[in-house]
Amino acid sequence: MADGLKVLVIGQGGREHALVWKLAQSPKVSQVFCAPGNAGTAIDGANIDIGATDVERLTKFATTEKIDLTVVGPEASLVAGIVDAFEEAGLKIFGPSQEASQLEGSKVFAKELMRRANVPTADYQSFTTAESAIHYIEEREECPLVVKADGLAAGKGVTVCTNREEAIQAVREAMVDSVFGEAGNQVVIEECLVGQETSILAIVDGNTIVPLDTSQDHKAAHDGDTGPNTGGMGAYSPAPLVTGELMDHIIEKILVPTVHCLNTDGLRFRGVLYAGIMVTNQGPKVLEFNVRFGDPEAQPVLMRLKTDLLDVIQAAVDGKLDQLEPLVWDERPAVCVVMASQGYPGSYTKGNAIRGLDEAAELADVKVFHAGTETHDGKVVTNGGRVLGVTALGTNIADAKLQAYRGVKCIRWDGAWCRKDISDKAREA
Ligand code: AMP
Ligand code: GLY
Repeated sequence: MADGLKVLVIGQGGREHALVWKLAQSPKVSQVFCAPGNAGTAIDGANIDIGATDVERLTKFATTEKIDLTVVGPEASLVAGIVDAFEEAGLKIFGPSQEASQLEGSKVFAKELMRRANVPTADYQSFTTAESAIHYIEEREECPLVVKADGLAAGKGVTVCTNREEAIQAVREAMVDSVFGEAGNQVVIEECLVGQETSILAIVDGNTIVPLDTSQDHKAAHDGDTGPNTGGMGAYSPAPLVTGELMDHIIEKILVPTVHCLNTDGLRFRGVLYAGIMVTNQGPKVLEFNVRFGDPEAQPVLMRLKTDLLDVIQAAVDGKLDQLEPLVWDERPAVCVVMASQGYPGSYTKGNAIRGLDEAAELADVKVFHAGTETHDGKVVTNGGRVLGVTALGTNIADAKLQAYRGVKCIRWDGAWCRKDISDKAREA
């Protein structure tokens, strides 16, 4: 143990708890820190009270503590340039540079890159003024359109509009009322795609692409994919929708040309490349790129990964993914059900005591990943909108769902709620 590696995970959500939990299982790791972490990462690792975008203090901490490897969870830290700062300080870190993170940080950047790389995506136009955007909407035949704020908007910058009026309203909110701040200074307006969504994540070292097993998120708040958009109310892995043939197509037509185009632009991409994909009648098309693990997709995906995650990440950081043995997966599917605070994704209260965590911890093949939690006077209390991700393995997807909801039933707090239909889509695929 004494000679094991010291690892730092940046972030505080369910994805970061899953990363801490998985990395702590590596026989090569002696200690996992999480900054700032939550009540769950404090159990599986040790929390450090530094914010995820406080690049200066994080760099200082990693230097002083001689951290061997840092893994970045949230996009905000990447876009803030944490990878560049760590590398400058001679520290090993897993994630793309600030410039390469523009793939997620700017929708205009991502769409232009896709156009150049011939990657299938929705047709679009970008605008720097509200007048030109509104003129464009008014001139078009009325049809569903998607209006996207260019920059990071905590998952809220995308509005799917069924008619012209809604699209104009969305442009006004972004560009005139500045509800997303500077992120709305430019907008992308694109055609609305129809189909099923899937999340394709791959570990990339700049050259070699190692896809992870597939997963599917549930972005809408309520059952049957109704209600407002959220950060994700649950996920399952694998996604039966994505056949081997479809995956090969996605690798060849989407992942490879994207990494190649970034390379050609001098932006070596090292990290997680996450393609949010709509499987349409015309084939898979990219909805968005992210440059990090998905949340909640990471929870079921990492629960199924048998390979030591440390080996995978180290190989990526060292540019040696071509030498990595093929990833080994638990054949059993996993389902993650997010339990949320009353009011989420709108405003919600914090500080509610969570009961039943010990009971849930006793269930076999169930892991409760914490997201918006903190410890207060020795008790675990709610501290966010998405509070827990109850994740379970099962003999099949229906069994994994059953096990996850068994875990959910153990846990209570005032106003706790969750979707009841997580993974049902897998059986329709
Ligand atoms: P994004 O943040 O770009 O992933 O968008 C959030 C969600 O909006 C996606 O997961 C989709 O459900 C939806 N969305 C984004 N772009 C489109 C599109 N062109 N057509 C239909 N739905 C979309
Ligand atoms: N689950 C969606 C995301 O991580 O962006």
